[in-house]
Amino acid sequence: MSNRVAAFRKVTFNAAHRLFRKDWSDEKNKEVFGLCANPHYHGHNYRLDVKVVGEIDPETGYVIDLKLLNDLINEEVTERFDHRNLNLDCAEFSHLNPTGENIVVVIYHLLRKKLPEKYDLKVRLWETERNYFEYPA
Ligand code: NI
Repeated sequence: MSNRVAAFRKVTFNAAHRLFRKDWSDEKNKEVFGLCANPHYHGHNYRLDVKVVGEIDPETGYVIDLKLLNDLINEEVTERFDHRNLNLDCAEFSHLNPTGENIVVVIYHLLRKKLPEKYDLKVRLWETERNYFEYPA
């Protein structure tokens, strides 16, 4: 029987964004993105759930040291995006619309790069209490 267990770490960060395409008119942006196209930006209290799946290490009893996982999330996600304007301050979104869908994919790849290959990773990003996104789907 497998000793694979899922370990979760939850973090929050605050960031501003605006959903729009530069190559669309103001009218078209407003029609497609509604209030989220507001030229003066708006903020969200994002919540991120990070799920790491792996075998329990018989020596430590851990799947992953959650302190190390938390440090990784802080370095790659929180310090990069917290209290930032995603459109203006973050290179990741200079040419990518910062929708929940795109943000969750960007975060996945930032963490995947640093997480040992033996672990499976899934991330869920909550944009509001009711709207959230998960990658890989
Ligand atoms: Ni928004």
